[in-house]
Amino acid sequence: MERELRMSRAQRGGIVIALAFALVLAACDGGDSATPSPTATQAEASPTPSATTPPEPEPVAFATVVPDDIEGLTLRTDSVQGDPYRYFATHPEIAGFPVLGDTLNTAIADERARFEGERGPFEPVPPGATGPSFNASFDFLVASGDVLGVHLLFYEFYGANGIERSAIYWFDLATGEALPPTALLDGDAGFDAVAEALRTVLQAEYGPQLFPDALDRVLAAPEEFLHAIAFAADGSLVVVFDEYSIGPGALGRVTVALPGSTVEPHLSDFGRRIRDETVAPSGPVRIPTPTSTPTPGPTSVATPPASSGVDCGAVACVALTFDDGPSGPTVALLDLLAEADVPATFFVVGVNARLQGALLARMADEGHEIGNHTFDHKDLTTLSPQQAAGQWSATAAIVEAATGTAPALFRPPYGANNEAVRAAIAAPFILWSVDPRDWADRDAAVVAQRVLESTRAGDIVLLHDIHRTSVEAVPAIIEGLQARGFTLVTVSTLLGDPVPGRVYNRR
Ligand code: NI
Repeated sequence: MERELRMSRAQRGGIVIALAFALVLAACDGGDSATPSPTATQAEASPTPSATTPPEPEPVAFATVVPDDIEGLTLRTDSVQGDPYRYFATHPEIAGFPVLGDTLNTAIADERARFEGERGPFEPVPPGATGPSFNASFDFLVASGDVLGVHLLFYEFYGANGIERSAIYWFDLATGEALPPTALLDGDAGFDAVAEALRTVLQAEYGPQLFPDALDRVLAAPEEFLHAIAFAADGSLVVVFDEYSIGPGALGRVTVALPGSTVEPHLSDFGRRIRDETVAPSGPVRIPTPTSTPTPGPTSVATPPASSGVDCGAVACVALTFDDGPSGPTVALLDLLAEADVPATFFVVGVNARLQGALLARMADEGHEIGNHTFDHKDLTTLSPQQAAGQWSATAAIVEAATGTAPALFRPPYGANNEAVRAAIAAPFILWSVDPRDWADRDAAVVAQRVLESTRAGDIVLLHDIHRTSVEAVPAIIEGLQARGFTLVTVSTLLGDPVPGRVYNRR
C-alpha cells in the first residue's frame, strides 16, 4: 500500500513539476557529464549580475553518468515532423526492468498532454519553418549497483520563447520500485531540516531579493521544492528552484547546494544509497530479473557493401536515410540491410548514440554512413548559434569515439535551418526529396508504396529507424527500387563531394 501511495505521489509530483517548472539547465548539464546536453549557455542561464555582485563561484550541478554497460538497454524514441506540431521524445528502457520505461513513458505523456492543453490547438508547421515544438530527452544521474536515476529534460518552444522543464525519477532495482525525488530524504523531519538549511543558504545568498511569502510556501511543500533534487559528484545535495518560484524573474533559476555533512543526518536509507552511488559508482547496474535476451550483436561478418565504388553520375542511385535513432528497431534494420547487402545513411541523435557505442561501431563496420542529427533533436532555429554548434559537436564527438570517424554530413531536425544555423555548423546540410511520412502512418505497406511510387534517380529518401513499421517496410523498398534498376548508396556516394554550408535535397 505504501508503495502505491508513494508512486501516486510521484505521479502527482510529475504533474506539479510540469506545471510549475521553467528550468534552464545549463549548470545541470555541466562538467560532470561526459557528453553534456548542449541545451543552454551559462550566460543565458544566469541572472544578470549587478555591478556589486561578487564573482560567481563555479556553478553547482547534478552529477550525470553515461553508462554503456546496461544489459538489455534500448531507447524508445518517437518523433512527429510538424503536423500538428513538432515533437521528439526519447527515453531508456531496460528489458529486465520494465518499470523504468513505463514510468518515463507516462511522465513524458503527461508532460506532452500539459503542453497540448496549454498551447493547443496547433496549426501544422510548414517544412523548414520555425513553429511550436515539444522535446523530451534525458540524462542518467546514477546507473550503478542497484539504483537508477533519470533526469527528464523537457524543452518546449511556443511563440518566441523556449522553456526548459525538468523532472527526476529514481528507481530501486532491489525492490522494483519507482520512487519520487522526495524519497532521498528521511520523512517529514528530513524535509523540515533540509528546508531550514536551504532557507539559511538562500537568505545568505539572495536575501532581500526573495519573496518571503513565496519562500515560506515553497519550503513548506516538499513536492514543490524537492522536484529537482539530486547529488553533485562530491556528495553535496543540489536543489534547483524554478524561475519565479521564490523571487522575481530577474533572479532566474536558483540552484543551491548543501554540503554532504549538512544533509547526511536527514537522508533516507535510499538517499544514502543514491548518494554513495553518485560519489563512487559500485559497478554495472544489476538488472534484477532479466526476462529477455540481450541485444544481439552482429549477425553477419562485416562485409562493407560495394557502393563506395559506385559512380552516381553514371548509374541511377538512390540513398535511403534513417533518422532519430539508434533505438529499439535499429538492430533489426541492420540485420535486414546486411542480408540485402545494401548500405544506408543513419542520421543519429547523440542522446541515443552515447549509450550505444557498439551499435554505432556495427553500423560503420557494415559499410553504412553515420551522419549527425544533433544531440537531442531540438529545432535549431529556436536556439542560439552557440547552442546549435554545441548540438553538432556533442554528437560528432560521440560518433567519433565509437567508430573512429567523425560524421561528415548534417541533417537538421525537421529540416529547420536558416543562415545563422548554417553559419554555426560547418557541414553539408542533407535534407530529403522523398518523404513517405512514416512518422504519421505507422503502416509498412503504406510506407513502402509511397517510397516506390515517388522515387526517382538521385533521390534521398527520409525514413526513421525508431518506428518498427518503417523497418518492416525496408525489404519491399529495397526489392522494389532494385527491380527498377536503382543502385542503393550512402548519401556521400550519391552526392560525390558535398560542400559544407550548402543545403542538399537530392543529387
Ligand atoms: Ni529527426
